[in-house]
Amino acid sequence: MNANARELAAGFDLEKLTGEFYADPYPTYRALREHEPVKRLPNGSWFLTRYDDLVSAYKSTKVFSSDKRREFLPKYGDSLLYEHHTTSLVFNDPPAHTRVRRLIMGALSPRAIAGMEPDLIALVDRLLDALAARDKVDLIADFAAAIPIEVIGNLLDVPMEEREPLRDWSLAILGALEPVISAEVFARGNKAVKDFLSYLEILVEGRRAKPGNPERDVLTRLIQGEDNGERLTEKELLHNCIFLLNAGHETTTNLIGNGLVALTAHPAQKKRLIENPEMIKTAVEEILRFESSNQLGNRMTTEPVELGGITLAAGTPVTLCIGAANRDPKQFSDPETLDIGRTPNRHLAFGTGAHQCAGMALARLEGAIAISRFLARFPHYALNGPPVRGGRVRFRGFLRVPCVVGEGRPTIETPC
Ligand code: HEM
Repeated sequence: MNANARELAAGFDLEKLTGEFYADPYPTYRALREHEPVKRLPNGSWFLTRYDDLVSAYKSTKVFSSDKRREFLPKYGDSLLYEHHTTSLVFNDPPAHTRVRRLIMGALSPRAIAGMEPDLIALVDRLLDALAARDKVDLIADFAAAIPIEVIGNLLDVPMEEREPLRDWSLAILGALEPVISAEVFARGNKAVKDFLSYLEILVEGRRAKPGNPERDVLTRLIQGEDNGERLTEKELLHNCIFLLNAGHETTTNLIGNGLVALTAHPAQKKRLIENPEMIKTAVEEILRFESSNQLGNRMTTEPVELGGITLAAGTPVTLCIGAANRDPKQFSDPETLDIGRTPNRHLAFGTGAHQCAGMALARLEGAIAISRFLARFPHYALNGPPVRGGRVRFRGFLRVPCVVGEGRPTIETPC
């Protein structure tokens, strides 16, 4: 086992992953944490798996830069994908980052998020009614993915009848962030940015002419800027609207999907949550830790830095493996076990430091409402076929999860 773990760590290459890895990356992550926690990959970048190393990297924006202008140039060239990603909040350093983040955080205030709760409950209940009418459903398309797209649609006040393309645009743009991409994935991502920008230009023009309620409408808030006159440029505004949709869509879909699938594989935890619905908050945190929807983060060193006795040179790309850090036994007792009551639970699913997820309160609210109301309505839900994984290393989730909701009657559990 030890020799295998050593070999697994030694042979790890983020650009050559196997089907086995995509199905269950955690044995590899454990092997890396134990044997090569600061791992040099064949392409010259480094891969970190220890909790403490990730925290150090996240906390130092000076040494670990998020600015991707240099790194993305060979991958995207002078393309719209390049313009989009390098203008997104998450891929910038202070001071540009600080200014844009303040405007976005202002628009995602606790008050704005609390105000979304009634609409969110109504949306989830409508989806549950539709599931009940069909019995055999796809947990992703029919439920998990339908929630964040509507929430962000509401956030930006995108008219209902114009929301259909949003999900595909978002998946195409995020797909192009995978470590290795084909020409087709690149072209699809680029076209999605182009189409999305054309759509947003019209939406923003309309909103400038007829502003919405800035308390509820994040787009109006972003257009109007701060009281002190601080505003986003047109380019920043458009790309960060795209980024908000992307940041909040697949990640939250995966939280809901991963949670409902993980509970079928852990029936005792499922029963515990159904019998103790007040545990939903700790359960959501545990799902975020156990199957983090966003598994990888990226940084570039700006000066030589030492980690675990190894010195990384300035200008080295570093991947922060959230999925591995969230199972580090030095931080979490019994880390490979799903425990919906785990506390404390200082997971890194939302990152930490200056770039910590700006939408985490919203994601937590969506996860809690979706999962708790689903369990209350369909306590006997079960998978009725193998769930299909998304096949991505960065964003961990399912593409399809065939399920019978079995309203009011017991069905046989099918562990995934
Ligand atoms: C389960 C759901 C979510 C997960 C797991 C997640 C995860 C993350 C992570 C790990 C980061 C930090 C990236 C880094 O430091 O490199 C981040 C940043 C961000 N997230 Fe989320 N996110 C989720 C949902 C959302 C939602 C719903 C929104 C908003 C609608 C959102 C908006 C953002 C923004 C704006 C940033 C950039 C913050 C910055 O760079 O200052 N996220 N998210």
